[in-house]
Amino acid sequence: MDMSEACIDFKGMRVLVSGASSGIGRAIAVELSRRGAGLILVGRDRKRLEETAAMAGTAERHLLSLDLQNTAEVFPAVREFAASVGRIYGLCHAAGIVETLPLTAGKAEHVRRLMDVNLISGLELARAVSRRDIMEPDGGAMLFISSIYSRVGAPGQIGYCASKGALNAAVRAMALELARRKIRVNTLSPGVVHTAMTAKAFSVLSESQVKAMTDAHPLGIGTPEDVAWVAAFLLAPQNRWMTGIDLALDGGFTAQ
Ligand SMILES: NC(=O)c1ccc[n+]([C@@H]2O[C@H](COP(=O)([O-])OP(=O)(O)OC[C@H]3O[C@@H](n4cnc5c(N)ncnc54)[C@H](OP(=O)(O)O)[C@@H]3O)[C@@H](O)[C@H]2O)c1
Repeated sequence: MDMSEACIDFKGMRVLVSGASSGIGRAIAVELSRRGAGLILVGRDRKRLEETAAMAGTAERHLLSLDLQNTAEVFPAVREFAASVGRIYGLCHAAGIVETLPLTAGKAEHVRRLMDVNLISGLELARAVSRRDIMEPDGGAMLFISSIYSRVGAPGQIGYCASKGALNAAVRAMALELARRKIRVNTLSPGVVHTAMTAKAFSVLSESQVKAMTDAHPLGIGTPEDVAWVAAFLLAPQNRWMTGIDLALDGGFTAQ
């Protein structure tokens, strides 16, 4: 057991993780389970959710297949599911999509799709999980995986940047609203991380563009595990005083 394992302990607590079928969300689910959390794993792909559940080992875990594009279904689905599972301590909204489109091609429907999954579904998950009859009565924690593109721009990422910037703003307001119930709410903004999403984004770039993206991170590109343990720290019940912040985790990208 390392020092952080002793300090960050989720024993007896249940956390709902969206995007748990892949990349960053999967790594967070595994990290939380390693630290004793029970899991509610949310994603579309049932088979990959089952793989995550297997990786999470012996921890209590439940699978909830949900298409977060259908924002109206999120709240009732989580509410109903929670009734059968029991109290929830925390939420990590890691599900997200990216679409690279120049302004001229980025129609309202494209921007809406990004907003629905990255922002609105996250707010709907929070609305359900934070309910008094669902969340632990002593409070809890919610974490939204944002992006450095909530802080800096990039060509072709207008909709993505808008969705993540809005997420950071919403989280600040949510943190203030929920502080009296001892519910902490934060965003974590990673730089580029090796996942399926990055592989897809890199596939439309030239070799020199990929090199430029990589070189923009003084410590190199991150891994899902780099993000997972910081997510655990932000969500941990031992972390009592941190709320309403956006933490950049980017190998030095935004320090430049
Ligand atoms: N990778 C990076 O460099 C990077 C950097 C900064 C921030 N982020 C953010 O980190 C988060 C995770 O990204 P990742 O890189 O781990 O991506 P990923 O490997 O592509 O995983 C995305 C996850 O989101 C879920 N998802 C997407 N659309 C969904 C929908 N309509 N309904 C339900 N689930 C949906 C996927 O579930 P299914 O596969 O089951 O549909 C999957 O579990 C995202 O919010 C992303 O914006 C990523």
